[in-house]
Amino acid sequence: MLNTYSYEAALAASESVHWRVEDIIGGEKRLDFTRHFMPESLAQTESLSFLTNEERRILNQIRGNAYLCIFGLVEEFILPFVLDHARPQLQGDDYRVRALLQFAGEEAKHIQLFKRFKQEFEDGFGTECQVIGPPEAIAAAILSHEPLGIALTTLHIEWMVQRHYIDSIKDDQDLDPQFKSLLKHHWIEEVQHAKLDTLMVGALAAGRGEEEILHGVEEYLAIGGFLDNGLKQQVEFDLESFELASGRTLSVPQREEFQRVQLRANRWTYLGTGMTHERVLETLEWLTPKARQIVESVSPAFC
Ligand SMILES: [Fe+2]
Ligand SMILES: [Fe+2]
Repeated sequence: MLNTYSYEAALAASESVHWRVEDIIGGEKRLDFTRHFMPESLAQTESLSFLTNEERRILNQIRGNAYLCIFGLVEEFILPFVLDHARPQLQGDDYRVRALLQFAGEEAKHIQLFKRFKQEFEDGFGTECQVIGPPEAIAAAILSHEPLGIALTTLHIEWMVQRHYIDSIKDDQDLDPQFKSLLKHHWIEEVQHAKLDTLMVGALAAGRGEEEILHGVEEYLAIGGFLDNGLKQQVEFDLESFELASGRTLSVPQREEFQRVQLRANRWTYLGTGMTHERVLETLEWLTPKARQIVESVSPAFC
């Protein structure tokens, strides 16, 4: 698989699909708050039978806001990580240097896009929705881990974006067209990131013995555990945001049901869909079959 990806091809593909933030948000391009933002497979509001349709839409939009804000958060660690990875070999392969800098530039652009979205969401939604953070603290915690663990986390995130868009978003006609457009434009550039991440994992694993590789996998799982704690906090924020926006106070059993269903939904969205992605598993297996086995033994908890 590593042999099928190249810096030159990734750079060429990236340049051919390039877009500007100004082309996809602002002006006439507005969010429609009467529509859903997230596909049901990720939002999972249907099984909360005590919610009305309007309340489901409110929760769906809260989840949509958190989704783009959480991408903004994780891309704040991906950006310096990719720059650090490129920096020691600026005199090396020209295509490698340019492809990695393009990758970093696109993540900086995505962070800006998500900030623009956040502002528009706040202006249109009507009540405050808290999201975990601050981004710098989350980035610092993740970047304190070992580089192979960070590269595997990045790989997970990039393939996860592919899966969300292709499996759940692309053909969902109920979603707000503007929100869907943001997801589509993000997805289109992330395709190349997923390939470049695979090459980064290969470069970081080169020359390592199995024990060192497995240490990198442990680090990946430790970062996953850190993110999982963030998701538990996010479910609490979403519950508060829901009660504030809907003007409804849930009973104790309803709150417990909300927390249970939404924690499962968040875990599937951000952890399960990446950990079980076939391309992620193939890369793990390429590192060492034990790496794949370890991740496969842990992933059911997030699915
Ligand atoms: Fe991105
Ligand atoms: Fe990316």
